[in-house]
Amino acid sequence: MDTNRLSKTLCAALNNQMTKEAYASQIYLSYGSWAEAEGYDGIANFLFRHANEERSHMMKILEYILERGAKVKVQAIAAPPPDPANVQDCFNKAFSHEVDNTTSIYKIVKMSLDEEDWATWNFMQWFVKEQTEEETMVMNMLDKIKIAGGESASGASLYSLDRDMKSTPDDADLAESKTVENP
Ligand code: FEO
Repeated sequence: MDTNRLSKTLCAALNNQMTKEAYASQIYLSYGSWAEAEGYDGIANFLFRHANEERSHMMKILEYILERGAKVKVQAIAAPPPDPANVQDCFNKAFSHEVDNTTSIYKIVKMSLDEEDWATWNFMQWFVKEQTEEETMVMNMLDKIKIAGGESASGASLYSLDRDMKSTPDDADLAESKTVENP
């Protein structure tokens, strides 16, 4: 009896998304290594933690494909892009990668809607929320870098920004958790 509950198209899209999450992890790993070598230990710590998060996103999708009785295909991961030029460039690029990833997740949501595969649609909602959090988190970081002086930030302001990054939470607060009492 065929127990596969995923269509060929969705199975391929989810397998590709799994590789995209692994690629995202490699990017954060690579940017974290760059940051640490530049002396930004707090930023490196934040990026390394995030590399782990991306890896866990990959695992979530892998588990889901298996749970639905379909075939996981572990694919090669492309090499990460070159090192960023500075801290602002690092987070500008991280933001672009997150937006690319969001676009790819939205495509899977649309595919699951078209196929009326509600299990996959429901599963993907977690990723929709996660991407909003991640985009917000990087945007918040870019705001802080801008306040610190952007590309011409002084050593002193980058020093305190870096120090704060060690304790920066991994997820950003979303609008839906805000109230009048807790803006
Ligand atoms: Fe798993 Fe940042 O996307």
